[in-house]
Amino acid sequence: MTPDPARTTIRQVAVEGGQVSVTWRDGHCSRYHAFWLRRAHERSRPDGPNGTAQVLAKGSDGRVGIAAAGVTSEGDLEVTWQSDSSVSRYEAAWLREHCYSAAERARRRRPLRLWGASIAERLPQSDYVSVQEDETARLALYEQVLDCGFSLVRGVPARHGEVLAAATVFGLVSPTPYADDPKDPELENIRVDARVPVNTRKCDFLGPHTDTCWRGSLSGLIYLHCLKAHGQGGETLLVDGFTAAERLRAEAPEAFAVLSEVPLNFAAKVTNGDDWRARGRVISLGPDQEVCGLRFNAGSIHQLDLPEALIEPVHSALERFQEALNDEALWLKIALLPGDLLVIDNQRVLHGRTAFDPSQGDRHLQTCSTRRDEFHNRYRHLARKCGHEDWNRELSWGVI
Ligand SMILES: [Fe+2]
Repeated sequence: MTPDPARTTIRQVAVEGGQVSVTWRDGHCSRYHAFWLRRAHERSRPDGPNGTAQVLAKGSDGRVGIAAAGVTSEGDLEVTWQSDSSVSRYEAAWLREHCYSAAERARRRRPLRLWGASIAERLPQSDYVSVQEDETARLALYEQVLDCGFSLVRGVPARHGEVLAAATVFGLVSPTPYADDPKDPELENIRVDARVPVNTRKCDFLGPHTDTCWRGSLSGLIYLHCLKAHGQGGETLLVDGFTAAERLRAEAPEAFAVLSEVPLNFAAKVTNGDDWRARGRVISLGPDQEVCGLRFNAGSIHQLDLPEALIEPVHSALERFQEALNDEALWLKIALLPGDLLVIDNQRVLHGRTAFDPSQGDRHLQTCSTRRDEFHNRYRHLARKCGHEDWNRELSWGVI
């Protein structure tokens, strides 16, 4: 991508209140704090820190002072430091790319497509063979998952274990502690089995939830691959948790604040003695208060272990959020057919299931998971290779 020269040409520089103010040719004004510039300077040095603590050269007053700032003959920013008169240079294009004004930070984020039930009319979907053979089709699939939090891939051969091969389009498949067969440590079956007392082996209604809330790092992308469809029920429910969270923010801001601020205990006990525990906020927010991740499963939220003053607000907030999630106007119901594969961002889109009668037919899905960061890394590789200008946009972080 060729940068717009008006965006990357410095028109004027001034030092104001310990910050450097840069006015660009397109009229935008960026302000760079001395600390920020100093950190950038340290990072740009060949022997600069890489994940180690940095020593900032401070003046006698304990501040990192700027003596002067100007534009070099090449059009870059030059800063002279008060403490030792050393000079730092910052490439103009780099400086603009990292401007941290609210407008530029918002511009760098990849916009999300929040959705409700009407997304059924324009379902994000793709064809498995194309995704495997054609990088453009694969990139389109990646973008659907980034923008909508899910995609339906058709034509994935309805055979045992194929979900593992399909998931490698997005990343390395993570082992699960509940694999059915030790020879396939990443694979789980979703099929009625009275001997296994977990929700994936039942046939009753299952409300919208994110998987593995009881793990410190919950599953990133999850895959539901249909091998056998039930004729009359067992539809898969999807809910855009970000849409529900935004509704909560608009209609019950106090509940939204509680769920985004108070960490709760999540837990899962398993009959084999496993005792998983994790702590986290239901709603994760980024630095601009943008919703970026969800951790919610009503069945995994442990007994509240909080200061007394929080018991009632937390209980009420959870009820309000669950109400929003259970509004069918937000539900996408999909009757998966053999060969269908749902790719779901487990930290944004919640999934569930309608009830079905197992005596009327079998329903068999297979599932596995991969990590979100690995998917994002692959996306950036491919988008850059395909020349997509927005490959460098900031992607939704997930649960933080
Ligand atoms: Fe689940």
